[in-house]
Amino acid sequence: MPQPLPPALPADYPRIKVVRSFEELVAYRFGPTVNALCWPRQLAGDFDEIAACFAGEDDVTSLDEESVAGLRPRLGAAGLLAADTLAADLQLMRGQNLQPSLECVPRYQRDDAAQIVPTDVYSYHADRAPIVADTYLCSYNQAASELVRNEEATRHVDIPATRAALLQEFEREGMGGSFEEYLAENCYDLHYAAAAGATPISFGFGNLWRIAIEYPNCPVPPCIHRAPATVEGRLPRLLLIS
Ligand SMILES: [Fe+2]
Repeated sequence: MPQPLPPALPADYPRIKVVRSFEELVAYRFGPTVNALCWPRQLAGDFDEIAACFAGEDDVTSLDEESVAGLRPRLGAAGLLAADTLAADLQLMRGQNLQPSLECVPRYQRDDAAQIVPTDVYSYHADRAPIVADTYLCSYNQAASELVRNEEATRHVDIPATRAALLQEFEREGMGGSFEEYLAENCYDLHYAAAAGATPISFGFGNLWRIAIEYPNCPVPPCIHRAPATVEGRLPRLLLIS
C-alpha cells in the first residue's frame, strides 16, 4: 500500500519519492527521475523551546548531543521531548557514517544586492561536491526550506543577459583562467532563477529529506532548493544538515 504523501507535497511531481524508513532513505539510489527523497515524520516536542534558548543571538550556533543535553535544565516537558528527538536524529545519522550538523540559525549572510547573481542560501541553488555525495536536511521549526521543480528553474548563467554581464565582470577583473572556471569558482553556475509563477514545494517540519546534488556523473539533475526568507523578530530556525 503506497504511503500517502504529506499534504504539502504535490502528487504530480515525479522527482520526489516518499520513503517509509530511515534505512530506505539512506539506501535509495537516485534516478532515473527522482532527485529528492522525503521521509515524512511527525515529531513530538516543542522545538521552539530549544530555539528560544538562542533568541537574540546574531550568529549561527552549532549544536551537538552534549550542548543539547546542556539545555535540559531550561526546558519544559515539550522542550525535553524535542531535545530527545534532536539527539536521536544526530545519533541516527552518525550511525550511518553521516556527519550531521545541527544548527540554530537566526539568519544567514545575504549577498550584496548589487551582485549580478546572488550566491547566498536564500537564492535557489544546487549543492555541489567533487565526489559522490548528497545533502540531508530537516527543518524542525519556524520556517522550512523549500525546493523548486527543475522544470521551473533556469541557471542564472544560462540567461543570456546575465551571462553577458558576468562575462563583462570576468573580463574587467582579469583574474586569469577560463570564464567557465570563473563561474564555478564563484558558484555562479549553481544558482537558479525560478520561472514566473513557479510554486515552491515546502520541505515541511520534521520530515527528513535527502536531496541530489551536483557531482561528476550524477545520474539526475540536482535538487534546487533554498532557505526560507528570514523574518525579523522570529525565533531562530533549528536545522539538521549533513
Ligand atoms: Fe543548499
